[in-house]
Amino acid sequence: MSKLILAIESSCDETACAVSRDGREILADVVYSQADMHALYGGVVPEIASRKHIEKVSLVAEQAVKQAGVRLSDLDAVAATCAPGLIGALLVGANFAKAAALALNVPFVPVHHIRGHVAANYVAFPQLEPPMTALVASGGHTVILDVADYTHMTVVGASRDDAAGEAFDKIGRVLGLPYPGGAALDALSREGDPDKYPLPPAVIRDHPYDFSFSGLKTAAVNLIHNAGQKGQAVNRADLAAAVSRTVAQSVVPRVVAAAKDHGRRRVCAAGGVAANSTLRALLEEECRKAGLELYLPPLKLCGDNGSMIACQAYFEYMAGNLGDPSQNCFATLPASEDVCRYESGM
Ligand code: KG4
Ligand code: ZN
Repeated sequence: MSKLILAIESSCDETACAVSRDGREILADVVYSQADMHALYGGVVPEIASRKHIEKVSLVAEQAVKQAGVRLSDLDAVAATCAPGLIGALLVGANFAKAAALALNVPFVPVHHIRGHVAANYVAFPQLEPPMTALVASGGHTVILDVADYTHMTVVGASRDDAAGEAFDKIGRVLGLPYPGGAALDALSREGDPDKYPLPPAVIRDHPYDFSFSGLKTAAVNLIHNAGQKGQAVNRADLAAAVSRTVAQSVVPRVVAAAKDHGRRRVCAAGGVAANSTLRALLEEECRKAGLELYLPPLKLCGDNGSMIACQAYFEYMAGNLGDPSQNCFATLPASEDVCRYESGM
């Protein structure tokens, strides 16, 4: 019997809902993006995000059910992202999904957002199966995971401060690019010379897999400000190219090393920053040299979306990782933890 799951994603500034069948097939994917509104403030304003989720969540879910061409009574479970993310934003989606699950008398499945990003690869590549090494790089996270199974993974390395996306967005803002700056900076970098501005690598030297993006961010921002104080202008394309290359050169060798050290043959990437063209090109080159199979989802599945949560929800459901009506949400939680079993002590 096939399993139909409706899932809500509301961890940041997108109210998304998707319906999956058996985890791999997406019957509907509806998203309401708040990005334009947060762009007015140069970043996501948590309270506005929560309020917009409340306004849109029912509508987005209704549209997804319609698009999927299913009846509510056909659903086998209702899922929602419960960690990590903006706590107020998460609570909106989770409470909506819990209420829907209760009303439909089906299980509620809490989903980890980072596990969802990994699962974007299962949507894009229906034959792909763990084990594998995954890089998840987004606005909030930069993490290398050893994915032993769909619901079992360990954190091999992570950023100790800013996420890669945060660095892209901050540098983009100082360069006068529209928020969020990652995609615009990527486009600009294609016309630039990456050798013009030397920048510090975004790695922790005494740890083989950890990152630090705050030094890179500060170095690029200082470079722009210092040039401004001297009445000089930086070449925006050259700096964008230098930033993109520094991020790619910091991240890719560590991902390849993690795969080799853990005996994995497959590597996948996910998260908004996995859309970066320099990062994708270097991953392709280095994985080919190392004899690793690389999986890169299409750009629309890299950033936050409902499909990835609906897909991961299926695997959590099959593993028996269900939430009860008291299920809480958590602003931070490593992807190694099952959200349904986590106790915050609060
Ligand atoms: O996964 P995502 O949509 O949301 C989070 O979970 O954070 O990632 C958003 C991040 C933003 O920082 C955005 O600037 C960055 O992904 N991003 C990019 C590109 N496209 C989006 N960064 C670099 N190059 C891109 N092409
Ligand atoms: Zn995300």
